[in-house]
This record gives sequence, structure tokens and C-alpha cells, in this order.
Amino acid sequence: MKYNDIRTTFLKFFEEKGHKIVPSASLIPNDPTLLFTVAGMVPWKGILQGTEPAFAPRVADVQKCIRAGGKHNDLDEVGFDGRHHTFFEMVGNWSFGDYFKEGAIEYSWELLTKVLGLDPNKLRVTTHETDEESTEIWRKVAGKEAIRLGDKDNWWSAGDTGPCGPCTEIFYDFGADIENEDDRWVEIWNDVFMQYDRDANGNLSPLPKKNVDTGGGLERWAAVLQGKTDNYDTDLFVNLMKAIENVVGVQKTAENTPSFKVIADHLRAVGFAIADGVIPSNTDRGYVIRRILRRAMRHGQILGHKGALLSKLYPALITEMGAAYPELAREEKHVVEIIQNEENAFADMLQNGMKLLENEIPKVNNNVLPGDVAFKLFDTYGFPLDLTQMILRDKNIDVDVAGFEKSMAEQKERSRANTKGTRTLWESQTQLTDTDDSTKYSPDANMQSKVLSILRNGEFVESANAGDEVEVALDKTNFYGTQGGQVGDSGEMQKDGKTVMTVSEAARVDNVVIHKGTLTGTLNVGDTVSTIINAPSRQQTARAHTATHLLQAALRHVLNEDVEQRGSKVSPDSVRFDFSFGRAMTAEEKQATEDLINKWISEDLPVSHEEMSLDEAKSKGAMALFGEKYGNTVKVITAGDVSCELCGGTHIYHTGEIIRAKINKEKSISSGIRRITMSVGTLAE
Ligand code: ALA
Repeated sequence: MKYNDIRTTFLKFFEEKGHKIVPSASLIPNDPTLLFTVAGMVPWKGILQGTEPAFAPRVADVQKCIRAGGKHNDLDEVGFDGRHHTFFEMVGNWSFGDYFKEGAIEYSWELLTKVLGLDPNKLRVTTHETDEESTEIWRKVAGKEAIRLGDKDNWWSAGDTGPCGPCTEIFYDFGADIENEDDRWVEIWNDVFMQYDRDANGNLSPLPKKNVDTGGGLERWAAVLQGKTDNYDTDLFVNLMKAIENVVGVQKTAENTPSFKVIADHLRAVGFAIADGVIPSNTDRGYVIRRILRRAMRHGQILGHKGALLSKLYPALITEMGAAYPELAREEKHVVEIIQNEENAFADMLQNGMKLLENEIPKVNNNVLPGDVAFKLFDTYGFPLDLTQMILRDKNIDVDVAGFEKSMAEQKERSRANTKGTRTLWESQTQLTDTDDSTKYSPDANMQSKVLSILRNGEFVESANAGDEVEVALDKTNFYGTQGGQVGDSGEMQKDGKTVMTVSEAARVDNVVIHKGTLTGTLNVGDTVSTIINAPSRQQTARAHTATHLLQAALRHVLNEDVEQRGSKVSPDSVRFDFSFGRAMTAEEKQATEDLINKWISEDLPVSHEEMSLDEAKSKGAMALFGEKYGNTVKVITAGDVSCELCGGTHIYHTGEIIRAKINKEKSISSGIRRITMSVGTLAE
């Protein structure tokens, strides 16, 4: 059976068993404890924990996964055997409080032996040493005596905390003629019985329901079903290997196979991750992807290839996997551009770094490369430590990792001493020009701006490259820079119609708007760029800001007229509001405040944005913020006849756009000052 057909057979089987079939979630998890989606259950953590409702009792999918960096890390294994991948596809079925051990084991057995036709004699199973029930079910369903193992083998969790439970694993026997036990017995399916939640102290508490979480590696299934002992000999990989032969101009041989495997694997990891929005950088998941890309380039170099590699191979990935994952083709232009930028930036460094390393190798004592040399390779030539280790592994040379870390710590200390806060750095620039941000309330899509300054790693530079984290000042911008309690816009900058920077936040230093973010291409002082704000996030912030005005008005109704704003932070769809009041609000007062705001929202009151003189605003009765300085011309935001405030923020035009408001917390932050946190929009719903 062909690789791509196994995926559809799996999904069809579980659809017929009443499962809702869903597409793969992103490789970027909505979970701060994980760098990548490492298993099919990651998107369902909230459902398993009972904090999110299950959208169906039975679900199945094929999930894109990356296991590199973090607890589940297979990076160092790739290339040296036939089973490991950084990127792989996990087939999985779930029961959220529906069927349990018996159902899960029966389905696994039926699919493997009846539908896919595997020989039952070639399958072995394991269960947790405490799990009598599963052991008995295996006897009944398959006539199999399970091997009983401990927590190390038969207990599963995605991270150190969260849902977990005992599991039963199914292994395929490739035959007694394979000497290495790990190559002979390959785990093809894991059925986890998710029953517990583990907290940060390691304590287990029962989950609200008994759930099933299963996972099998599609690549291993392909090998088993195609009679191959090596995943990389299955049809999908054979086709990718041919594409590599064409791009590199070298035939695959027994000797150079590890490099072919690394490149094929890394192409999938880098291609899929960038298509899902990862940008190679110096931190977190961006750094993992940069390391993987650079390892692939090194293996290209071993094959005698120079320069761009994965960017040339990406179309072959679309040919093989684009039908199942439409995002690959949809994002092609963006992915290829980002890979090319990375490859261009590293190509020369790789050649020069290898020269340095080749000079150093003869000087090595006791087979250990000094840490400061590894650090120089890292710092000057961009060699991640694991790339240096990988290169030296063939020559049986280790790296003095402690020495490397010491050099790294020393350099960090130096740069800490040199780098004052970036605000001070901007303030120390004498030639800063105020940013013209007059289009911030109604962004001009055709506006062309000029790059005036780029700050990178504590230094102003003339030019910076893809992956660099920078702060950029322009002559003009559409971005609203953080001001008056409102968090600045996010979005992107484009150069020649292509994204050159993702902007995570626009800040302000006096009258200069500072765009903070990561470059996706080269940016030079003097370049012409366009500034494109993230419109949905802008809208979310605007409705949160108008809702803040309604909150203040409602508090003055419900509590008293003396309530005054003391500070606020308005973010997309959430509000933090500090105000003067001498005691805790009662539950009734909180409810009355929330109800009043929601009443004004449902009345869909018009919100006007007017400019006028400060005197005019005062005579109109507009509220001003205590202690704030205002210019002669001010903006006045009026919502129906309930609120009228001086405000420079961005707002919506009808209160109905807020959708809903929900007060989450009310607490004291200092004597006489209370703080309310509130959600609005779909978040509140
Ligand atoms: N979540 C389980 C695993 O990844 C099924 O092995």
C-alpha cells in the first residue's frame, strides 16, 4: 500500500467507527510548555483535562509532529537508522470519555490485522505492569500474552505536566535474522489510557473522564506494509531521494545514505514548520528550525553540493505531500523565500567555518575539541553546537561542552554589561526623527516608508538579515505604537511586495515609533517598505479600548461618581483597568457593572471620534485622565450618551462591535486602588 493511501485507509476506518475526522493542527502548539506539536494529543490537552468541551466523543486524525528540542527529541538519531525522524506524521484516534481500554484495543487489532492485513504472528504487545485489565483484554481479543513493563516503557505524557496514563504498545517483528533488537522489534502503535493529570510537583490526580489517546508513526506503518525494514526505503522517501539526487547531482550509495536521509528528513521538518509560521531565528522553535536547516546544508556539503538546497527541494515535498497538506502549496512563495534567505546567510559561513575546523582538527588533544573553538564556530560562523558535534562524530572527536558553555556565559556577561535597555539606546541617538504616524487611525495601504534606523543586539547597524531580532524606526508608519495604556499594533513590513519583517509590537520612545520583531529577509537603512498592520488584532484592541470606556462609565453608575481611572492596559480582546475605590466590590456590584456594559453593547450605540480644542472638550464634559498632559487639539471619543472621554487610542464605531464583555477578576492592588480584568469579544463569549 502506498504511503499516501495508508493515511486515507486509517481515516476511513475510524470514520466508519463513528469518529469525527479532523485535519491536522498546526506544528506550533497553543501550549507554552511545548516547542512543537509532539503528538496527536497535543491539540486536545484542554479536552482531556476537562477545561474545554469535547466537540465530539470520538475523533481521529493524522497529525504533523516535530520531535526536536525539548523532552521528545529525535534529532541526533536521524540519518543513522531507518526509524527516526524529526518530522513525522502520527495517526491517532481518541475517545473523550466514550470507549476505553476494550474499544481501543479492539479497534487497533482489527485495523492492523483485518484491514491492513498484517500477520498476527508478527505482532507483540506490551502493557503496564499494573494494568491487569488491558492484559486480559489482549488475551481475549487477540489471544496474545502481553509483556508487562514499567513506567519507563508503558506510561505516556506529552510534557512533564498534564494528562498522562498507562499505555499498551504494539510492536512489529521484522524477523529473527535482524540481530539488533531495536531494529527487529519496532513499535508501531501506542494506545494510551489517559486517566491522570500530573502537576508540577509530580502529583497525579484523576482526569474528569477516562479517555483514549492513540498514536502510530505513519512512516513506520508504510515500512511494515511495504515490506521494508527502513522507513526511508518506502515510496514517499524514495521519491524524495530521487529529487535530492537531481538537485545535488550525486547518486545515492550505501556510503552516502545517511546524508540523503538527513536531507530528506530535514526538508520535511523545515518545510512544514515554516509553512505553519515558524521563522528561523536565534531563540526557541525558530532556533531549532535554523539548526535543522543548517545540518541539512552541511550534509549537502558532504555530498559535494554548495549553496541553496532545501529551497530547491521544496517543490518535491509539495509533489509528495501537497495533496494531504494544502498549506504546503499555499505558502510556497513565502516558505521558499525564507529558506533561501537562511541558506544565503549561512552558505559562506559554512565554507569558512569548515576551513577553520579543518585547521583545528589536527591540533586536537585526547579527541576533545576545546570549548572556545566550538564557541568561535558558533559565534562567528553560525555553527550550532550540535552541528559541530555532528561533524566531529565521524572522526570520533568530542566537544568540550562545559568549555563551550563557559565561553557562551562570558560573552553574555560582556553583552549584558554593554547593553543598556533598548529604550536608553534609542534615547541616546541624537539624530532621531519623529515618526509621522498621522495615518495610524486609518491606515494607508499604499504608503511607502523609508528605513531610518535598525537596532540589533544593542547596536545600530546599516543592514540586518533574516532571523535577526531587530527594532526599526521609519520616517512614517501606519502602526499605532504602544501609548496611553493601549498595546501597540502587530503586523508586518513588506519590501518589494514580500514580507521582510514580522512586527510583534510597535512601541514608542517619545515621538518615535519603534517596530520590534524578527526579519524574514535582508533589511537595510534607506530601504523603502510598506507597513501592514494585523487588522484582526487591531479590531480586537479597538473593541477592548471602547469597552474600557464603557467599564469606567458603568463603574461610575454602579459604585459612585467619584470612581476615577488610575491606569489601564488595553490588549487585543482583554482589558486591565485600575481605579480609585476604597473597598472590594460585592458580587452583585460586579454583576451589575457587567450587565450594564452588555446592555450598552446590545443597544449598539454609535461611537464618534472627533477632534476639537481642549477647551471645547472640557465644555462638552469630556472626562480626562488624572495627571495626564494633553495638547491643544484633542481627540474625544463619545459612546451614545453614556461615555465621553479624551483619548488618543483606536476605537470601534458602534458598541455592538464589542460583542460581549465579561469581568474576570476584581482585586486590590494598593490602598484605595482596585484592579479589574475583563475579556471582550469572542474571548468573553
Ligand atoms: N500520545 C501517544 C504517543 O505519542 C499516543 O505515543
